[in-house]
Amino acid sequence: MPGDGFLLLDSTAVPRGRRADWLAGELRAAIAGGALRAGSRLPASRVLAGELGFARNTVAEAYRRLAEEALVVPRVGVGTVVAAAGPQRAPRASATAAGQVLPSRPPRRTAPDPIDLAAGVPELTAFPRAAWLRAEREVLAEASRRTLGYQDPAGAPALREALSAWLARSRGVVAEPGGVIVTAGVTGALALLAGALLGEGHDSVALEDPGATGNRLILEYWMPRVEPVPVDADGLVVEELRRRDTDVVLVTPAHQYPSGVVLAPGRRRELVAWADERARRLIVEDDYDAEYRYDRRPVRALQPLAPERVAYTSSLSKTLAPALRLGWLVPPARLVEQLVERQWASGLGSPALPQLALARLLDTGALERHLRAMRARHRLRRDAAVAAVRAQVPGVRVHGVAAGLHLLLELPDGVDDARVAASARELGVLVQPLSAQRHRPGPPGLIVHYAAEHPARFEQAIAMIARVLRPHRGGRFPTSNRPVAGADAGM
Ligand SMILES: Cc1ncc(COP(=O)(O)O)c(C=O)c1O
Repeated sequence: MPGDGFLLLDSTAVPRGRRADWLAGELRAAIAGGALRAGSRLPASRVLAGELGFARNTVAEAYRRLAEEALVVPRVGVGTVVAAAGPQRAPRASATAAGQVLPSRPPRRTAPDPIDLAAGVPELTAFPRAAWLRAEREVLAEASRRTLGYQDPAGAPALREALSAWLARSRGVVAEPGGVIVTAGVTGALALLAGALLGEGHDSVALEDPGATGNRLILEYWMPRVEPVPVDADGLVVEELRRRDTDVVLVTPAHQYPSGVVLAPGRRRELVAWADERARRLIVEDDYDAEYRYDRRPVRALQPLAPERVAYTSSLSKTLAPALRLGWLVPPARLVEQLVERQWASGLGSPALPQLALARLLDTGALERHLRAMRARHRLRRDAAVAAVRAQVPGVRVHGVAAGLHLLLELPDGVDDARVAASARELGVLVQPLSAQRHRPGPPGLIVHYAAEHPARFEQAIAMIARVLRPHRGGRFPTSNRPVAGADAGM
């Protein structure tokens, strides 16, 4: 219907002999004005002709003219698509107000992609697209009307069942399927817990220092007070936690972020004893990258030591992709009902179809196969990363090599790590300074994530960082480099 369809085109007053001209002009203007963006598909000529009341040939003629001008491209099996780079015209000249003709400006050079060692993501190019697509296709093929309707806000039963079995198998986590809540990643679990804790009258949470800035920002958003607690070579210093006026603590026991230390067995017992002293105390366990262990045996989760004291959470962000926003929370049984109610009240839970696809990957063993492959790939990247650091910045101490997706480079005292990171950014390398992850002052450092970038790019980035650090060298680094393999000691 004229005026009612594509681009709101109104063809009523267009004379018969001028229709192709008119349509080509309208489409040109829509492309130039941005209403039709690169990659947009034009309607099939038959459909648009019907809409405008034109002959099909008229529309085809308008499309042909635009194709000649390289504004659109016909694609077999797809249709006519707006061209990506716009028309390939001869260089244009532009006229100034005084009538002087100037050559058009050369296209601006776009800056090369920065090398990103700041993002804590896995090798995303290895995302198992085929397996995920297959799982989604199977889920959709079998989805009943019920599957497509409103779902349990706690999560799809099939996924909660699969997670309960997988977490027991891989992490020793104790949870019935009914005790698993599907969340929007660890972040979603923290936000959910924070709401419940506020509801119970808590006004603060203790966090590891140094710790993950992302977690801190989320908890600062929700809670009136966060209390940093120092970390040493055995993990969170529970003695210090006892000096804080708080009944909730967030820890990363299997692989402390960012130091890489493991919460020692004695500390685990101390922490649980702290929680046992008051009924309202809670330990939140962020098991964010537990799947990646290279030179040491997997460390069990803390939750099985005290399922009634620990709220366990993890996600797919380090194993598949953060974009999926899929994670899980296993809270103490006393909290399950109210947390599920909060999920219901804040959006009726997570989208069901991706949950079912994940359940399928777990049930068929595809996720575990993928993880085995990822572990091997990430180990190679870890080895290359350590070698690059040793070669380019000898003397720097490297922490956290045995597990995870990042290294911590300890810099000599007195180096301003934030300035190092800022200079690296100017050279096109993104890296996190350790000082940004801590509350109290401490040794400077850089957190470098090695999984996402190709080893050649990682090596390039380390060379840039070495350049930035050069003025600080000259005997100021510790002269003996500890063996890096297994050098997971604290800071
Ligand atoms: C310590 C820590 N916990 C959790 C996460 C993952 O958060 P989410 O599951 O919300 O993506 C990250 C991501 O970088 C992290 O560094």
